[in-house]
Amino acid sequence: MGVVVKGLGASLPEKILTNQDLEKMVDTSDEWITTRTGIKTRRISKKDEPSSKFAIEAGRMAIEDAGMKPSDIDVVIVATVTPDMMFPSTGCIVASELGMGETPAFDISAGCSGFLYAMNIADSFIRAGKYSTALIIGVEELSKITDWTDRSTCVLFGDGAGAAVLTRSEEEGILSIEIRSDGSKGELLYMPAGGSRMPASEYTVKNRLHYVKMNGREVFKYAVTKMPAISKEALEKAGVSVDQVDLFIPHQANQRITESTGERLGIDPSRVFSNIAKYGNTSAASIPIAWWEAYKEGKIKEGDIILLAAFGAGFTWGAAVVKWRRK
Ligand code: ACO
Repeated sequence: MGVVVKGLGASLPEKILTNQDLEKMVDTSDEWITTRTGIKTRRISKKDEPSSKFAIEAGRMAIEDAGMKPSDIDVVIVATVTPDMMFPSTGCIVASELGMGETPAFDISAGCSGFLYAMNIADSFIRAGKYSTALIIGVEELSKITDWTDRSTCVLFGDGAGAAVLTRSEEEGILSIEIRSDGSKGELLYMPAGGSRMPASEYTVKNRLHYVKMNGREVFKYAVTKMPAISKEALEKAGVSVDQVDLFIPHQANQRITESTGERLGIDPSRVFSNIAKYGNTSAASIPIAWWEAYKEGKIKEGDIILLAAFGAGFTWGAAVVKWRRK
C-alpha cells in the first residue's frame, strides 16, 4: 500500500504589490529587493479576506482536481501561522464551508515548513489505516502580521494558499518525508506578542510586537545548510539519487536560498522551480502554490520524481520525495 498525491489547487489574492509600490512606503529600491531576494511582486489580501477564504478555494480546487467530492475527505489539516483567529481552527472553518459535515479538522503551526509537516501527518494517518484520504492546505496572510514600516521584512512576504489531496493507493507516490525542528532558535524568526507569553495589551500594540521579527542573516545561514542536508536524507530514504530528481520545488523564501540549495545538492538550475518573483515568501503556502503552478505549466509528467524542501520559523525544516502518479 502507498500514498499518492491525487489533486492540487491554489488560490491567490488579486491585489498585486510591486517593488515600485514598496519604494513609496519604505526606504528601499526595486534594485535592492530584486538582487537580494529575486522578488518583484507579491499578492496582498484585502482587510475583509481572511486566510480561510483562500484555504477554502484552494481546498475546493484540489478536491475537484482529484476527481473527488468533499464527502470523500476523511481529515483536513491546515498549516498556517496566520489563521483566521487563535481558535477555532481554520481547518474547522474550511471543513464546514466545504460541507464536510463532522470530518475531523485542525491546524498545525510549523512556519514555512508547515505544508511538509501536514503532509507527514496525513501520510502517517493513511499508512496507519486510520484514514484513506486527506486534504492538506498551506495558507498564509503574512501581510497581516508584517510591519509595513520595517524594510528588512516587509519586502519579503506575500499571501496565498495551496492545497493537496493525499489518498491511499496500490502504488507508492510519497517515497519519503523527513522533518526536524530546533526550538532553541525560535527568537531568530518570531512574533513576540499575542500569545499567552505576551498577551495583547496597549504596551504590545504600541511597541509593534504583533509583527514578524526576523534576523534575516541567521535565517539565511541555517536555511542554506539545513535544506540541502535534509533533502539528501530524504533522497537516501527514498532510494533516489539526485540525478533522478526531475523537479526540485523548494520553499520560496529567497531566490539566493533557492539557488544555493540547488547548487549544494548538485541539481541543474533547469530542474529547480521558482516563482518567488511573482509571489514572494508565502510561508506554509509556498510549496503547494509552486507545485500547483509547475503542474499547470506542464512541468511535471507522469512518473516524475519531485523533491520538496522547506525551512522556516521554529526553526523547522523538512524534505519530501514524491513520485507523480495521477493515472
Ligand atoms: N531595502 C534596502 N536596504 C535594505 C533593506 C531593504 N528592503 N532591508 C535591509 N536593507 C539593508 C540593511 O539595513 C543593511 O544595511 P547596512 O549594511 O547599512 O546595515 C543591508 O541592507 C544588508 O542587510 P542584510 O540583512 O545583511 O541583507 P541580506 O543580504 O542578508 O538580505 C534578507 C536580507 C533578504 C532578509 C536575507 O537575509 C534573507 O532572505 N534571509 C532569509 C529570510 C527568510 O528566508 N525567511 C523565511 C522565513 S519566513 C517564515 O517562516 C514566516
